[in-house]
Amino acid sequence: MRDLREEIRDRIDLVELVSHYVQLERAGKNFKGLCPFHSEKTPSFHVSPALNRFHCFGCGASGDAFAFLMRIEGLSFREAMRRLAERAGVELRAESLPQESPDERDRLRKLVYAANFFYRQCLKRTPAAQQYLAQRGLTPETVEAFELGYAPDGWDYLLKFLQKHNFNLQEAETAGLLKAREDGEGYYDRFRNRITFPIHDAAGRVVAFGARTMGNDEPKYLNSPETPLFEKRNTFYGWHRARGEILKQRAAIIVEGYLDLIMLHQYGFAHSLATLGTAFTEDHTARLKRLVDRVYLMYDSDAAGVRAALKAGEALLQAGVPALVVSLPRGQDPDSLLRTQGADALQRALDAATPIALFGIEQIFRDVAGERNLLELEPTVKAQIVERGLRWAASLPSELDRLACLERLTPLTPAYLTSPQAALHALQQELRQHQRQQRTRRNRPAAPSPEPETNPTARLSIPKAIFQAESETLRAALYPDSAAVALEHLPEIEWQIPLHALLADQLRTLPKPPSHYAPSELLEQIQEEPLKDLLTALLMQESPPMTPEWAQGCILRLKEYALRRKRMRLAAEITQPTPHHEADLQNAEKLQEYWRIRVESID
Ligand code: UTP
Ligand code: MN
Repeated sequence: MRDLREEIRDRIDLVELVSHYVQLERAGKNFKGLCPFHSEKTPSFHVSPALNRFHCFGCGASGDAFAFLMRIEGLSFREAMRRLAERAGVELRAESLPQESPDERDRLRKLVYAANFFYRQCLKRTPAAQQYLAQRGLTPETVEAFELGYAPDGWDYLLKFLQKHNFNLQEAETAGLLKAREDGEGYYDRFRNRITFPIHDAAGRVVAFGARTMGNDEPKYLNSPETPLFEKRNTFYGWHRARGEILKQRAAIIVEGYLDLIMLHQYGFAHSLATLGTAFTEDHTARLKRLVDRVYLMYDSDAAGVRAALKAGEALLQAGVPALVVSLPRGQDPDSLLRTQGADALQRALDAATPIALFGIEQIFRDVAGERNLLELEPTVKAQIVERGLRWAASLPSELDRLACLERLTPLTPAYLTSPQAALHALQQELRQHQRQQRTRRNRPAAPSPEPETNPTARLSIPKAIFQAESETLRAALYPDSAAVALEHLPEIEWQIPLHALLADQLRTLPKPPSHYAPSELLEQIQEEPLKDLLTALLMQESPPMTPEWAQGCILRLKEYALRRKRMRLAAEITQPTPHHEADLQNAEKLQEYWRIRVESID
């Protein structure tokens, strides 16, 4: 339903639709007219083709094509859907519904639901299983919330229960609950004498189980097989409970284990998800992509965990989602850390998380040089680190990340002692070669090779994250909660986008703080059309929810970026040929400042 709605919405030209009812005129990027939903003399009804939404700054009416049609024609959602589908040329016939027979999936869901009910009842009657959970530190509320259960110790308990309730046993096998006997004579229970962890789909319906032995049986966990309801590679354990908090925090924590996930929730980290003993895939990435600004990967600290974190991190990076790796103390998993050291310890680990780009570099250092001090490495070892580091850096999609990696590598190059700047420059050249190689290796048409840079401070294209941080900082100035934080910092920000700088200036110099105006009033305060458009877009934007913390994060990001650019500028100036004694002196000062900033930003 949702997808269909999106598909239709994307195909509808909202401006065209609205102009059947409202006379619209162009106003920069947007269109405006007299609001059809309240009476007014000057137009405050805006339609943004870019956002495909309308917003009235007079009465606050806003929404998408569906909302508009429903309101103006007094239609139900279904009717609006039908009308818009027709208009968009989207077929609403049965063929556009999912391929599987909906009846079968329905019956399978009922079966899994019944099994879950049965296991939960069994837990209530089995003190040993309850004890096991208590001894693992789970509160009764948690057991209830995660619907944990117990599969009894025998071959046909579930089978009999399902039979009694007239379920089809063959379908129970399809649902992964029963297994067929080898002699072909009937079925037996898949899960026996195990704690059951129901796994839910995105809509919160039980679709499968994980089941842990209470003793030392192998395997430790048994999982449902893939079924028409359950695909491991796009399922997150805990999704339906975490989704709301993920949206709120715009962040998610990824762990591997069932109990790790449950414990994180029990200790208040409700934006946690688990992959089901499988790799974090592109499907997982796709589900998170639009909801979060960052993902914390919290895997075991052993070699397998590091490999898993790197792989997951790469998938996220390629999709443009910043990933951070959380290192837990050796031998601990999130469950054991929480139980032995509490939520604070876990929070500290989160705060100290390393961005995946640098985590990759650190792993290479560790891989090649072990715990040895950089100063005592032989040249060949250093060269090996640089080589692998460059290859890693070349695979990263973000210019800033690549640069951060190079900065870690430069001290390993011989040129560094005489000129850090020249060393960095040389590495940048090499990096470009690697990028070209990787591109041809991937057999993609090579992008036009970048202009040879004569100067490392040569303008980098402005990263999207910086663009967003700027516009989010401006947006923060419009909300009462975050205005104080934003306004305090507006003057010190080094804006990369001139338009942002202009709007910041105007917002700062208004007679009252921007959040004290009604949106339409505020819009009237701004004269220039391009700035009005920008402000409209900012005002029309509804997500992410604006909080002081979010504003603070954006500002911090901008400051870090400014610092980095300054550092690069100074680095370039230091190595300019300086014939005069005076200039030498100046350079010495610049040099000092360069290092001061460098050290500060590494801390
Ligand atoms: P671990 O072996 O790290 O176990 O497996 P754990 O999560 O710490 O479990 P406890 O604390 O001993 O109960 C991590 C995850 O890998 C999957 C499960 O999802 C498990 O939570 N796994 C592990 C399996 O699917 N089967 C197994 O046999 C073992
Ligand atoms: Mn564990």
